[in-house]
Amino acid sequence: MKDKLNAVKSAAIEKIQSAASTAELNELRVQYLGKKSELQGLLKQMGGLSPEERPVMGQLVNSARAKIENVLEKAIADIKNKEREIALQKEKIDVTMNGKAAPIGSRHPLSLVTEEVENIFLGMGFQIATGPEVELDYYNFEALNIPKGHPARDSQDTFYISENVVLRSQTSPVQIRVMEETPPPIRIISPGRVYRSDAVDATHSPLFHQIEGLVVDKGMTMADLKGILLEFAKRLYGEDTRIRLRPHHFPFTEPSAEIDVSCFACKGEGCPICKGEGWIEILGAGMVHPRVLKNGGIDPDVYSGFAFGVGVERLAMFKYAVDDMRLFYENDVRFLNQF
Ligand code: PHE
Repeated sequence: MKDKLNAVKSAAIEKIQSAASTAELNELRVQYLGKKSELQGLLKQMGGLSPEERPVMGQLVNSARAKIENVLEKAIADIKNKEREIALQKEKIDVTMNGKAAPIGSRHPLSLVTEEVENIFLGMGFQIATGPEVELDYYNFEALNIPKGHPARDSQDTFYISENVVLRSQTSPVQIRVMEETPPPIRIISPGRVYRSDAVDATHSPLFHQIEGLVVDKGMTMADLKGILLEFAKRLYGEDTRIRLRPHHFPFTEPSAEIDVSCFACKGEGCPICKGEGWIEILGAGMVHPRVLKNGGIDPDVYSGFAFGVGVERLAMFKYAVDDMRLFYENDVRFLNQF
């Protein structure tokens, strides 16, 4: 019986010590310490022993049982530690590792320039107005003193939706819409898309952007126009920028002018950017024609005003030294990322 007991004990200890999981150990506990275990069987057989042998054997069985329990507890503790370590190892986070940068887009150069112009004029007390891109012929032409058959219509190859509806070829129709709704004093700029049926090349696109300006008040003169636009040019291109006005013609302004800024690259010396001129044309402008004021519901005997229009693509091309307008529309990330 003693031999049997020792055999059970060593078998149990060996299996426990080579067990690899808590689940396995739980099974061994049942097998060696449970009600149907061999140890339990040995205790039952003790009835056949002599009264002298019985307590000796009882003690041996109990101490074997205690030993197995001991080894088992220790094995469970060891395995739990090991399992925890493995779990921790798996959860480990390397806080020094570089993060994954989410790709962020950049502002489109045309948006940047538009916003810059807006901010300059907002800073001078202007408000921003908008008008529809699908426009009545009346606002795009008639009310701006360009009747049907007027040669100025040819210079703006217009997309006609129907006889009386066009894709606006300029932002000037917003002048009329604002005058109709707003009693003077008026001081607005109006950025937006315009359309002309032009073939695409380095300086033409059927869709481009303009920013219109309109000021109407009592006693406005050409000097006010010049003052505002000089200030604009200085804020856009630098304090030492000069402007010059060249006589021009627009049906909706009288007198009219084209406005050049001194080349910001060569300061007027002449360079490749200004094509040796020293000057860069950026604006059309003039005093609002009395007939146009009248069409907007404003009395030209009481009020006068000036208006100007600037091409956003042109401003952006000079500002960022872009020599082909198509780059603005191709959405090539390698181009757009540079702004
Ligand atoms: N609308 C004119 C153009 O597209 C520009 C302009 C606006 C000229 C306002 C004078 C006054 O060419």
